[in-house]
Formats: sequence, C-alpha cells, structure tokens
Amino acid sequence: MILVTGGAGYIGSHTCLELLEAGHEVLVLDNLSNASPEGLRRVERLTGKKVELVEGDLRDGAALERLFGSRRIEAVLHFAGLKSVGESVEQPLRYYDNNVAGTVKLLEAMGRHGVKRLVFSSSATVYGDPSRVPVTEDMPLSAANPYGRTKLIIEDMCREVFRADPSWRIALLRYFNPVGAHASGEIGEDPQGVPNNLMPFALQVAVGRRPVLNVFGGDWPTADGTGVRDYIHVVDLAKGHVAALAKLDALGGCVPLNLGTGRGVSVLELVAGLSRAVGRPVPHQVVARRAGDVASVFADPTRAAQLLGWRAELGLDAMCADSWRWQSQNPNGYAR
Ligand code: NAD
Ligand code: UFG
Repeated sequence: MILVTGGAGYIGSHTCLELLEAGHEVLVLDNLSNASPEGLRRVERLTGKKVELVEGDLRDGAALERLFGSRRIEAVLHFAGLKSVGESVEQPLRYYDNNVAGTVKLLEAMGRHGVKRLVFSSSATVYGDPSRVPVTEDMPLSAANPYGRTKLIIEDMCREVFRADPSWRIALLRYFNPVGAHASGEIGEDPQGVPNNLMPFALQVAVGRRPVLNVFGGDWPTADGTGVRDYIHVVDLAKGHVAALAKLDALGGCVPLNLGTGRGVSVLELVAGLSRAVGRPVPHQVVARRAGDVASVFADPTRAAQLLGWRAELGLDAMCADSWRWQSQNPNGYAR
C-alpha cells in the first residue's frame, strides 16, 4: 500500500482519488491541522473504495513506528506540511519544526523499515526569482522566505540521504500553481480564513463571500502588466504523482521534476477565464504590488514528459469551470 502523508488536504485528497482509480491501496496520515476528514469520505464515495485515515502527526515518532511496523508500505507520497508564505515569516520556527523536523522523522522511520521510495511535494518557490523563464530543473535554487527554505532544506536532505544510501528512489516534484478541483465538484480546495492565493480569493469574490479581488500590480513587465504564473489543474497534478510512483525505480536516484503546463497565464487572463465560467464578471481592481512577488514564473515541463511520460492536459477553461463547480456547490467548503 501507499502511505500518503497530508492526504486529507487539497492536493493529497485529489491524489488519493487518482491512486485508488489506478488500483493502489491508500493509507493516509494527517493531523487534520488544515483539512477536514470529509474530503476523504467523498473520495471513498466517488471511487467506491476505502481510504484508511490515521489521524496523527508526522513529528510523532511512536505513531510513525506503529504505522510502518504494522503495514506493508511500498512507497510514501509526502504532502504533509504547512504552506502559507506570510505565516512562515511570522512563525518561522513552527515551519521548521513541522516541515523540516517532521520530514526528518518520516525519513528516519522509512529508513528503519526499509521503505526507500519517496515522492516529495516541493514547489516552484525553490527557484526564487528565476533569472529566465521557462524554468528548468538545473537553474539555481534559493529561498525568499522560511516556507521556501523548508522546501529547499528538505530537497537538500533528500539529496544527501540518497548520496549516503543510493538504494533510495526519490522524486522531488516542484509544483507550479495548483488550481481547480475534481470534475464532480465534490472535492476541492478549502482554505481557512482569508485566502492568500489568487484562485481561492477570486472564487470567494465570485460566490459573494468577498466584495472585490485586488490585483496586485498592473505595472509588471508582462504583456498586460499583471503577474504571470503557470496554473496547473490539480487533477493533472494528481496524475503526475501516479506517474512518478510508476516510474520511481526507473528514475534511478533523487530527481527534481517540474510539474507545470509550460504556459504562463496573467492575473487578468485568469480573472477573464473565471468570469466566463461563472457567467458574469468577477469584480476586481488593480492595486499596488504585493511585497515579495515576482513578474513571471512558468515551467519548462520537458523533463517530466520525458521521464514520467506525463503531461498536463487540462487548460485554463477546465481549471476555471471545475474550480467554480466546487465553489458554487460548496460555498463554505467542507464547513468544518
Ligand atoms: P493542504 O494544507 O491542503 O495539505 C497539507 C496537509 O498536511 C493538510 O491536510 C494538513 O492537515 C496536513 N499536515 C500538515 N502538517 C502535518 C503534520 N505535521 N502531520 C500530519 N499532517 C500534517 O496543502 P496542499 O495545497 O494540499 O499542499 C500539499 C503539499 O504541496 C504541501 O507540502 C505544500 O507545501 C506543497 N505545495 C503546495 C502548493 C499549493 O499552491 N497548494 C504549491 C507547491 C507545493
Ligand atoms: N494575486 C493577486 N491577487 C490576490 C492574490 C494573488 O493579484 O489576491 C496575484 C499575485 O500577485 C501573483 C498571482 O496572482 O501574480 C499568483 O499569486 P498566488 O499567491 O496565487 O501564487 P504565487 O505564485 O505568489 O505563490 C504560489 C504559492 C507559494 C509558492 C509560490 C511559488 O502560493 O506557496 O507559488 O511556487 F511559494
């Protein structure tokens, strides 16, 4: 069976669904610090298959020991982590403890039990402000905030673990900007408090929970002056994990892979796409730039295509339509 840490969360729950559809048995470890168990119940309904949810913390060595000692785990997909950039600046130690120390515990338990196959949720944030786009995996890495540094440290840790013991097989999946939801509208992203990211904020404006979307900067050196990112449908991303798992042994090492579409989309293009999906304009206004933002980041996804045989298939319209279906059917998310 596959152990999915953080499997109750946004990307994890979509990946559990794709794993089940691909015939894997799935075991989730999640402390529910940023998720509701309802998402996985819906995954079970959608697939007609069971997901075992163990409520527990990555940093709890005894809990990990019980988990690895009592199950035959083939590989680990490691999503569990805190992910808010702003929060990480205010509470850096919480991020190092949860993300870095938690991953140390996980890798220790995996090593002790001879489970040496890992797929890690890294991020395009490890490229910092890239010197050119599209971004390739060999470009220099840097961290602009504690959250990004936890991703960089964990990547470095994985590289060193592999160097010390070359029988490990590790995929470092660098996600670009995940958006969208399962086409059923039953599972999706359910942020707590004021969303930081563009799509969840825009959706709450579209559904009437907030009056207006602030577009951070209209004077970036991009075609329409707004920030450009590589939005990727979460179902494509989830399928990328199933592909990475299938190809993990063939990758033969500790390999970073960009998971993006290769296409840059501006804030205004995304707002236009969402307005089409909703059937009316999403109110927005251009305001000052947000501190720490960069003009344009999008992936060169060639390596993932070559090594995993995986490519993102869903475009902006599907991302917007599926996001809107989830948001309009569940205006308050899972209502935890
Ligand atoms: P999410 O918050 O929805 O999912 C993370 C899950 O991990 C949550 O269910 C949370 O309860 C759980 N968790 C956190 N700390 C834990 C711990 N110590 N022990 C057990 N469970 C714990 O976030 P997501 O968007 O699904 O992101 C998943 C992963 O992908 C994260 O590692 C994130 O950093 C990474 N990532 C996300 C994005 C994005 O934009 N969503 C982009 C790049 C990378
Ligand atoms: N934006 C707005 N208004 C908003 C929110 C965002 O105009 O209310 C703009 C941003 O300025 C940026 C674009 O929309 O141009 C995307 O912003 P997001 O916050 O959605 O995403 P980022 O690319 O800034 O950040 C994401 C993750 C980070 C990660 C980073 C790099 O949230 O965790 O990608 O991978 F570090």
